[in-house]
Amino acid sequence: MTDAFGGKTLVITGATGAIASAVALQAAAQGARLVLGDIGAEALDALCAQIGAGRCAMLAGDVRDPENAAALVALARTRFGGIDALIPAAGIYRDRAFAEMSAQDWRETMEINLDAIFHLIRTALPALNPGAAIVNLTSIAAHRGSPRHAHYAATKGALLSLTRSLAQELAPQVRVNAVSPGIIETQMTRDLLAAHGGALRAATPLDRFGTAEEVARAILFLAGPASSFITGEVIHVNGGLYMD
Ligand SMILES: NC(=O)c1ccc[n+]([C@@H]2O[C@H](COP(=O)([O-])OP(=O)(O)OC[C@H]3O[C@@H](n4cnc5c(N)ncnc54)[C@H](O)[C@@H]3O)[C@@H](O)[C@H]2O)c1
Repeated sequence: MTDAFGGKTLVITGATGAIASAVALQAAAQGARLVLGDIGAEALDALCAQIGAGRCAMLAGDVRDPENAAALVALARTRFGGIDALIPAAGIYRDRAFAEMSAQDWRETMEINLDAIFHLIRTALPALNPGAAIVNLTSIAAHRGSPRHAHYAATKGALLSLTRSLAQELAPQVRVNAVSPGIIETQMTRDLLAAHGGALRAATPLDRFGTAEEVARAILFLAGPASSFITGEVIHVNGGLYMD
């Protein structure tokens, strides 16, 4: 392991989720300081303890609350002096036929997967250190749609557009990129795999599903110095299931 993130501060939401916790642990192993947010204090506590209290700060709260975004940014400033990488990873993926989708289903997915990222990025701007990077978690659904997840796919498509817009608007100070995972074996895809795992695997050239650790490596590539001339880009981590 290198110390590519030595002295750097990463702010991650949805931090105790499968992909985000893999990002936190890999970054910590490369010297990073972490500011972690998620709903549940207990899981956050356990993750921060694993990283070490001296290099980890945490805040339990709902990403839908703009005050939560402000408090996370303030925590990064007071504990570590600013932010070098912002990784808004909190998200929900609910199975709903469009004909049965309620306005509340739609709104809740918009609020967590998209509105919360607007609040976080906007609030974080003054705290971003020179050369900072933002890495958004889009999805294969942003590129090819997702039946029974139209609300989810709509948020991820919008997030991809937001990524490209901000890459232009925030340059040259800040780089903004995205990672679009395909089918990754996490809690989020448990029901999908139970229903369609065989067909999805058969359609994947690498003949398996991805791991959270594999997605985390792509996220950290875009978050760190190895991608210093890359902005407005999206990396697919999907075993070849979808190619642009
Ligand atoms: N797993 C996949 O196959 C896959 C594929 C494409 C994209 N993604 C994206 O990657 C990201 C992480 O996915 P994952 O598989 O690790 O999911 P996960 O379910 O393991 O983690 C999501 C995290 O978000 C948190 N969260 C949800 N609602 C929240 C709220 N209102 N406030 C604060 N935190 C909240 C959850 O507590 C959880 O820890 C998501 O944005 C997801 O859309 C995942």
